[in-house]
Amino acid sequence: MRAVAFLLLLLCATCHIALSFTDGLLPNGNFELGPKPSDMKGTEVIGPHAIPEWETSGFIEYIKAGQKQGDMLLVVPEGAFAVRLGNEASIKQRVKVIKGMYYSITFSAARTCAQEERLNISVAPDWGVLPMQTLYSSNGWDSYAWAFQADYDVIEIVIHNPGVEEDPACGPLIDSVAFRALYPPRPSSKNLLKNGGFEEGPYVFPNTSWGVLIPPNIEDDHSPLPGWMVESLKAVKYIDSDHFSVPQEKRAVELVAGKESAIAQVARTIPGKTYALSFSVGDASNSCEGSMVVEAFAGRDTIKVPYESKGKGGFKRAVLRFVAVSNRTRIMFLSTFYTMRSDDYASLCGPVLDDVKLLSLRTPPRHI
Ligand SMILES: *[C@@H]1O[C@H](CO)[C@@H](O)[C@H](O)[C@H]1NC(C)=O
Ligand SMILES: *[C@@H]1O[C@H](CO)[C@@H](O)[C@H](O)[C@H]1NC(C)=O
Ligand SMILES: *[C@@H]1O[C@H](CO)[C@@H](O)[C@H](O)[C@H]1NC(C)=O
Repeated sequence: MRAVAFLLLLLCATCHIALSFTDGLLPNGNFELGPKPSDMKGTEVIGPHAIPEWETSGFIEYIKAGQKQGDMLLVVPEGAFAVRLGNEASIKQRVKVIKGMYYSITFSAARTCAQEERLNISVAPDWGVLPMQTLYSSNGWDSYAWAFQADYDVIEIVIHNPGVEEDPACGPLIDSVAFRALYPPRPSSKNLLKNGGFEEGPYVFPNTSWGVLIPPNIEDDHSPLPGWMVESLKAVKYIDSDHFSVPQEKRAVELVAGKESAIAQVARTIPGKTYALSFSVGDASNSCEGSMVVEAFAGRDTIKVPYESKGKGGFKRAVLRFVAVSNRTRIMFLSTFYTMRSDDYASLCGPVLDDVKLLSLRTPPRHI
């Protein structure tokens, strides 16, 4: 009897890592399975293995939705539980993957104090520090994406709070952590840009309605939005048709931070040839109203595309024709203005960009 139980235990210990992970919430990725009462002191989690599937270090709190912090009621987006990372605390989980493949991680986090907070997410040897100082959604929660290439068959995802706040009750809350294999698309004869429709990208939580932030300073070889770089200081928001209005197919980006966030891609071009850069500009049907302008750049050429948003969805197409002056042309988009949602005046929003195509045009016939 004992031997059978042991065998079952052995089988089950390997079952969730036997298959490599491709898509979805990590095991206990929403922290719904909590520590035993004996592994807790108040809200503090005692011991590194108290939360099923996770290993923790430092001051970790297990938070129940509806719990109060001062006069603030803590909300939890998925299920009823989340964790809080105190100063220098971290959570980690091992995941079986396919060596060499690209993956993106999406997680939801909330700031709880006024101070600037950051999270360091790492999968050795890569890491990225994601700033959380700007709120994009009014309930305090945002989802963030980060990508890496797997150097090993089993990787360890670590989320660390490098903060040194005076108040130990400060420190970000983490809820859902999910994962998705990325299949970086290639340019084709139909589009010289990769992933022009933004269809390939990070995991989007089905139960959250605030999209996923693609953080700033993302290089294209490790972008959660394959093919695209996010430049400058602020994030762009990745949105899907289940929760927003999207011009084409299922996914698009919302330029939420005015001139402070730009999305870019470098295309191969032939000097002297004429190209057409076409794209859709619209709104996400998220109460983001007003006069918007998307600026598109192709090398030194630029176009400003105005769009009047009623915040109820819709889009228009625009084209920028240009003659390439180099064998590499940098394509870039940004929003000229900042916009706030009319329903809460606290969340940044902006125009939606989708269906970006770059095509080479036949040289027009010369006049004789
Ligand atoms: C982030 O975490 C990684 C892995 O632990 C570490 O090597 C790196 O130095 C950290 N970066 C910062 C800025 O804390
Ligand atoms: C998402 O919401 C649905 C309906 O409210 C619920 O049945 C489901 O369990 C939720 N999914 C997760 C992962 O929480
Ligand atoms: C592209 O142009 C640069 C200089 O502008 C040159 O060094 C490089 O060899 C060119 N690459 C190709 C593939 O033509």
